[in-house]
Amino acid sequence: MSLLVALITGRCSYSVDDGGYDLSQFRQDQQLVSVPEGLRGVVPTNREAVRAIAARNDGRDLRFVIIGDTVSDGNKTFRTFLGEIAALDPPPAFMVHLGDRVVSPVVECYGAYFKAIADPPCPILHVDGNHDVREEGERISRAFFGDKDFYFDRGDMRFVFMSDVPKAGLRKEPSGFTRTQLDWLEKVLSEPAPSRKFFFAHVPPRAPFKKIDPGLAALFTPPLENEAEFLDILARHHVVLAAFGHRHVHASEVYNGVLMVITGGGGQRNFVDPDVNEPRFTKKSHYTLVDIPRSGPAGPLEGILSCMGKGHTTLSITSFSQGSLSANGSDLSVALRPYPMSSSGPFRPGDPAPTRPGASPRTP
Ligand SMILES: [Fe+2]
Repeated sequence: MSLLVALITGRCSYSVDDGGYDLSQFRQDQQLVSVPEGLRGVVPTNREAVRAIAARNDGRDLRFVIIGDTVSDGNKTFRTFLGEIAALDPPPAFMVHLGDRVVSPVVECYGAYFKAIADPPCPILHVDGNHDVREEGERISRAFFGDKDFYFDRGDMRFVFMSDVPKAGLRKEPSGFTRTQLDWLEKVLSEPAPSRKFFFAHVPPRAPFKKIDPGLAALFTPPLENEAEFLDILARHHVVLAAFGHRHVHASEVYNGVLMVITGGGGQRNFVDPDVNEPRFTKKSHYTLVDIPRSGPAGPLEGILSCMGKGHTTLSITSFSQGSLSANGSDLSVALRPYPMSSSGPFRPGDPAPTRPGASPRTP
């Protein structure tokens, strides 16, 4: 029975690296909410990562990585991916970690995680997962990474990050967004510039991913709190891409005109998700690579979404596009279309991205 519970909740244990940073002060002092002396600067806060991204912005093509759920024995899988991401040419401008970087005991796990990202291939932005805020995790995450909900702008793109995990990661409480958070999201997305919006959180909404929850599997994926309103906000503001982790799979669908992606295959085991025969679906360990060639503010946005397995294997690749914002009455639903696999590795910005705006209709 305990094994069944462990399988369902994903609470199987992992070995933690020796030699991680000592964060035991967070256990000894329950009031500690700031980075202790001697640990300052071991990892950049999200705000510092944003400054580093801005300093590296050459205004040209954009490449970035999305990864989630990176816990494995000794962070071995995550370390492998960090090495392979460091070897990408061109290098990514930044990585988004979608959460679940630690499990219990979080003090030791965070110490090992911080060591693993001590020399990252590019700045990393962190979203909280449900495991990350359990035990001392909430205080550690706030101290080292800062605000839960934040955004930054790069050219004509806005990247929005939010926490949708319950307080202290409690399983009894629903994942999702409060009314206050949705008001904030509405405000951040309603500003006309930058015009192209991207969104990141840990727990995915249920409705866009029904295809990967056949039969009884749907019982294990409850909807987010205020899910319908959240999805409506993304659609009304024509978000290009919304990415989530939590489930240790890769899946992508266009839902109400928004490219919705789950990419939680950064290392954690997967006993729960069913194998489904859907395009762009895998349970293999992976990260997701997003390439967006530079385009003028008035032109259509075109991009490539690559699901990358170990050894630089391209597990799936697809082209996505969103129409011109300056054309009156144009359909701003994101369109997906196949993109040819290349034996030379993932897409390289600068290649022409074949697109057919409007080819993928809104999903009811
Ligand atoms: Fe999670």
